[in-house]
Amino acid sequence: MAELVRFSVAMPDDLLMQFDNLVARRGLAKNRSEVIRDLVREALVDEEWEDPLQEIVGTLTIVFSHHASDLQGKLDHIQHAYFGLITSSMHVHLDAHNCLEVIVMRGSSADVRGVADAILGVKGVKHGRLTATTTGRYL
Ligand code: NI
Repeated sequence: MAELVRFSVAMPDDLLMQFDNLVARRGLAKNRSEVIRDLVREALVDEEWEDPLQEIVGTLTIVFSHHASDLQGKLDHIQHAYFGLITSSMHVHLDAHNCLEVIVMRGSSADVRGVADAILGVKGVKHGRLTATTTGRYL
C-alpha cells in the first residue's frame, strides 16, 4: 500500500462547511481525508475516460415513454447491433407510462460513448446519462 503523505489545504470557510456536510452525508466510515481521496480519484477517472482508447465500463441510464411507437424495438435493435459491447441491461417499468433502462457496456471509451450517443439520440428517449469507470487497460 502506498505511503500516506500529509499536506494542508486552504479553502473559504463556507466551502469547508459544505464539504463537512458532504463528509457527514457519506457516513461514519468516512472522514475528511477519505472524502478528499474519493474526490481526487473521481476527478482522475473522469479525466482518464476522455482518452478514446481507454477501456471503460459505462452505465447508461435512460427513461422513455412506454407508449412511443416502436421505441423499445429501436432501442433493442441498437443493443443487438452492439451485443459485443453490452454486458448487461435491466428494464424497469417505472409507472403506467414510463420505462427506465440501465445498460452496462464495456469497451473503449470511444465505442461506449458512440453507442450511448446512438441510444440517447433515439426519438422518444426523454433523458439519460452515461457514467463510467475505467478498468485501467488500454485497447
Ligand atoms: Ni417498461
